[in-house]
Amino acid sequence: MAGADGEILIETQDLERAYRTVQRVVFALRGVSIKVRAGELLCVVGPSGSGKTTLLNLIGTLDMPGNGRVLLCGRDTGDLSAGEIAHLRCMGIGQVFQDLNLLDDLSARRNVELPMLIAGATSAQAGERAEKLLKEAGLDRTGDRPAAELSCGQRQRVAIARALANEPRIILADEPTGNLDQSAGRQIVNLLAELAARRNCAVVAATHDPQMVDAAGTTAFLRNGLIERTCRRDELSITVGAVK
Ligand SMILES: Nc1ncnc2c1ncn2[C@@H]1O[C@H](COP(=O)(O)OP(=O)(O)OP(=O)(O)O)[C@@H](O)[C@H]1O
Ligand SMILES: [Mg+2]
Repeated sequence: MAGADGEILIETQDLERAYRTVQRVVFALRGVSIKVRAGELLCVVGPSGSGKTTLLNLIGTLDMPGNGRVLLCGRDTGDLSAGEIAHLRCMGIGQVFQDLNLLDDLSARRNVELPMLIAGATSAQAGERAEKLLKEAGLDRTGDRPAAELSCGQRQRVAIARALANEPRIILADEPTGNLDQSAGRQIVNLLAELAARRNCAVVAATHDPQMVDAAGTTAFLRNGLIERTCRRDELSITVGAVK
């Protein structure tokens, strides 16, 4: 079961988030409501500063809304204990951060193994799966190198492989193709689309990449902390550019 019939795995209700500093208050989200079902890939697009990262961090339970609610798999995350949140984050949510947040001194493979080891996998199980995930993300021979020594695009792929380590049903990806060329980007787009379609995950991708929007069932346009409009794929006309 997928798409329109799938269970709602992500729901936000009137999410508001303001950042308050001594000098100013920035209203980053001003009432954002979305639903993402199992089997769906939702793109969030919008200008820099429109609130995409803020939204993903709230859904990912890394941040708390000023007002509004985040429900994951039908449960209000505001009602969960710290232990339940930690378990959800380890097993249920895979997050690709805009600034990646890799552990630079560890090898690419170790970065991917870590969430599995924390979840109780044996070293052999984690190693085998990390190898497979790195390959799926397009990294074949760089697994042993420290993350710090990899290119931006290679690091991005490690972050994507790591997010998928414990087979989460909720995947939050912040500009996951931002550092990749068109062909490498296409591979990641296909991977995320396939996770939604075949593995019944709910995927939210903040993106500027037309390829990603092309693959998504729905796209939400965020501006100044509000969703301006939401379009199904068939309501959009997209041209993925090429240099000839
Ligand atoms: N820690 C913070 N303290 C103060 N203001 C913040 C903080 N984080 C984000 N903001 C502000 O909140 C707004 C939304 O930021 P956010 O990072 O969510 O935007 P974004 O859409 O992800 O942008 P980009 O496309 O550049 O990644 C911006 O105006 C930003 O300056
Ligand atoms: Mg951002």
